[in-house]
Amino acid sequence: MLALFEIRSIPGWLADDEARSLYDIARQLPDNATIAEIGSFAGKSTVCLAQGLKDGKKGTVLAIDPHEGHDGWQTTKNVYKLFLKNAEKFKSSIVPIKKTSAEAAKKVKQPIMLAFIDGNHHTEYVVEDINLWSAKLAPGGILILHDCLDASVWNGIQTALLHKTEFSRFRVRNTLFIATKKKRIMPEWTWRYQRILYLLRRALWRMRQ
Ligand SMILES: C[S@@+](CC[C@H](N)C(=O)[O-])C[C@H]1O[C@@H](n2cnc3c(N)ncnc32)[C@H](O)[C@@H]1O
Repeated sequence: MLALFEIRSIPGWLADDEARSLYDIARQLPDNATIAEIGSFAGKSTVCLAQGLKDGKKGTVLAIDPHEGHDGWQTTKNVYKLFLKNAEKFKSSIVPIKKTSAEAAKKVKQPIMLAFIDGNHHTEYVVEDINLWSAKLAPGGILILHDCLDASVWNGIQTALLHKTEFSRFRVRNTLFIATKKKRIMPEWTWRYQRILYLLRRALWRMRQ
């Protein structure tokens, strides 16, 4: 069970309902799923994800963050120390990766069932993160971006995610933007074919009116 009072005591920017959503989504993942979290800071979202896996079908959270401080909020040493303290309870399921998203993506080879992106919020990084981690998502995997109402994050989502035909079920919960990678990905030409068919049917229907 997610103990919200414990989550609230960890510094971070996650609202209660977002913490609950991350927990619920992680809890419903298939057996031994791997989650990639980009931007862990002090571990608030990491703990929600790890608790979800623990109460669900187990798995691992790759907690990717260079931990070099965030907007001067903490020194490097303190943030990482704080993260390790908060992650202690889930030592066996949280794997800290003290690297940037791009560095970590080169090392991670296994398919990812959930990618939670909450790293650098500048548009170019959001675009890079979406491209890097959506490519590693298994069919049926879930991509979540935090702070989607920030203009820079939203621009990134518009640029890199909304047009990707391999994703569906776009939804928003508070500031979480959630998309699901389709289980069966149809080649691009089938989409064009379906669109032409749809336009033809619509034209015929109009002619009959
Ligand atoms: C908004 S905080 C993450 C908050 C965290 N998810 C939580 O729930 O409290 C953003 C984090 O992203 C990290 N970060 C910044 N650039 C990054 C990058 N290129 N790759 C991975 N993490 C990055 C920062 O060090 C910072 O800790």
